[in-house]
Amino acid sequence: MKAWRVVRYARPVEALELADLPAPEPGPGQVRVHSHAGALNFNEVDGCHGRYLTVNPPLPYTLGMELVGRVDATGPGEQAWLGRRVIAVGHSATGAHAEQVVCDADMVFDAPGSLDDLQAAAFYFPFHVAHVALIERGQLRAGETVLVHAGAGGVGSAAVQIAAATGARVIATAGSPAKLELCRELGADVAIDYRSTDFVDAVLEATGDAGVDVCCDLVGGETTERTYRCMAAGGRLMLAGFSGDIGAEDRPAPAPRPILFGNFSVGGVLLSYRRQPLPVRGRPLAVRPLARTTGEAVQAHLVELLDQGRIRPVIGRTADYADLPAELERMEARQTTGRTVLRW
Ligand SMILES: NC(=O)c1ccc[n+]([C@@H]2O[C@H](COP(=O)([O-])OP(=O)(O)OC[C@H]3O[C@@H](n4cnc5c(N)ncnc54)[C@H](OP(=O)(O)O)[C@@H]3O)[C@@H](O)[C@H]2O)c1
Repeated sequence: MKAWRVVRYARPVEALELADLPAPEPGPGQVRVHSHAGALNFNEVDGCHGRYLTVNPPLPYTLGMELVGRVDATGPGEQAWLGRRVIAVGHSATGAHAEQVVCDADMVFDAPGSLDDLQAAAFYFPFHVAHVALIERGQLRAGETVLVHAGAGGVGSAAVQIAAATGARVIATAGSPAKLELCRELGADVAIDYRSTDFVDAVLEATGDAGVDVCCDLVGGETTERTYRCMAAGGRLMLAGFSGDIGAEDRPAPAPRPILFGNFSVGGVLLSYRRQPLPVRGRPLAVRPLARTTGEAVQAHLVELLDQGRIRPVIGRTADYADLPAELERMEARQTTGRTVLRW
C-alpha cells in the first residue's frame, strides 16, 4: 500500500516521500481502515518540521491524523466494526496518510450517513475539537459571547458554526478579507482581521468593554496573552491549538496576575477519547483523555446538528493524495480555509 512518510525534518516538500509498505495489521482494541479520503491537519506541518512534540515518532514514520474509509480488518474484540464506513484517527494520531490505516477503536465513529466521503473527511477533528473546546470544557451557554481565533480554518470554521448553533454571539478572527467573509457566512456576527487590526481593541469595542465569555484559542503564544485582555469576568479561555507558534506549548505561561485580576479561567483541550484511563504515575506528562462515552455523546449531538442543517463541514480544497506535500505547504503559508481533503 502507498503511504506518505516523513523521512527528514524539513518543510513539507522536502520532508515527505511516498513509500510502498506492507498493509499494517490491527492488534487488540484496533481496526484497520481502508481509506476513502483524508484531511490535512495543521499539526502535520509542524510534524514535518520535527517540532510537534505531541506526536513525535522516530523517523521515518507515516504522517496523518484522520481519515474516512471502510473497516477491512479488526483486532480481537472489535469484530463488530468490520465493513462499517467510519471516521477514524490513526493509532497515536499518525499513519493516516496511507491507503490502509490501523486505528484504535476508542477513536472510531460511524461516518455520519448524511455526509459523502469528502464531507466526512472534513468533519471529525474540526467538529469534535470545537465541540469539546466550547461545550464540554468551555461550558458555553446560549446568549454568551464567543471569540474564535483562526475562525476560517478547519477547527475554527467548525467552532464558529457550533457557537452560532448554541445561540451565542460569535466574534471570529482571521487573516484575510476572504477568510473574514467565510467567518460571516458561517455565522460570525463580528469578524476581525487580526493581521491588520488590533483584535483586542476590536473585541472590546464589539462587547462594550465587557469582553467575551468563552474563547476557542487555536493560535496560541502572543495571541493567547493578548486575549487575556478580552476575557469577561467568569470567562473561559480554552487553549486548543498553537498554529501561531507550536513552541509556545512548552514555554512557561505568563505570570498569573492578569488571570486573577480578570476573574477568568484558562483551560486545556485535548481531543482523545478512551474506554480506559491511561497510566499516569511515573509518566513525564499526565495524559487524561475524555471518556469514550463523552465522545459518543459529542458525536450524537453533532449528527443531530448536521441533520438539522445547522452545521456543515467546510471543504476549502480537494486534491489528489499525490499533491499532499504541496497542499501542506499551502497550509503552512496560511492559504487554506476549512479543510483540505485528499483522495487516493
Ligand atoms: N487540542 C486538540 O486536541 C487539537 C486537535 C486537532 C487540532 N488542534 C489544533 O487546532 C488548530 C487548528 O488546526 P487546523 O488543522 O484546523 O488548522 P487551520 O486552522 O486550518 O490552519 C491554521 C490556521 O492558523 C492560522 N495561523 C495563525 N498564525 C499562523 C502562523 N504563524 N502560521 C500559520 N498559520 C497561522 C491561519 O489562519 P489565519 O490566516 O486566519 O490566521 C491558518 O490558516 C491547530 O493549532 C491544531 O494544532 C488541536
